[in-house]
Amino acid sequence: MIYPIVKFGDPVLDRPAAEVTIFDDDLKKLIEDMFESMYAARGVGLAAPQIGIGRRIAVVDVTFKEDPKAKLVLINPEIVGKEGRQRGSEGCLSIPDFREDVSRAKIVTVRAQDATGKFFEHTGEDLLARAFLHETDHLNGKLYISHISALKRDLIKRKIKKLVKAGEW
Ligand code: NI
Repeated sequence: MIYPIVKFGDPVLDRPAAEVTIFDDDLKKLIEDMFESMYAARGVGLAAPQIGIGRRIAVVDVTFKEDPKAKLVLINPEIVGKEGRQRGSEGCLSIPDFREDVSRAKIVTVRAQDATGKFFEHTGEDLLARAFLHETDHLNGKLYISHISALKRDLIKRKIKKLVKAGEW
């Protein structure tokens, strides 16, 4: 099932998501639906709040279907290591048609549980490091625009307000 993507302005995106404690078939189905919804929206990462579900689940595939091994499920993820610096363009399915340069760590280690509840650690570089940080932020009620200047953030917010008024958001 493809879920519609929740956009900036919906309070579910601003709230810390709840920890997952039950690893059952419903969770597996939700993860499948999240991958399907992410690909349908042409994204490389999706957090559950972005489909209106306030639970600590994110899916990532920075290869966009090219490498099946790149499909990652992060449940209750925590960033446990950060190294270096990268600056690059970042966007979000919940803030469509906007992009900004964001400074992030270059190498990031995440500790998370998989769909069966098993803990694992995964270290990613560049885009994958960025995705780990971006998606974990979502689960903490944070959007990438919290990492840009107040000036740029206010400009984006003003433009979104206009789009909302015009019924285009
Ligand atoms: Ni996002």
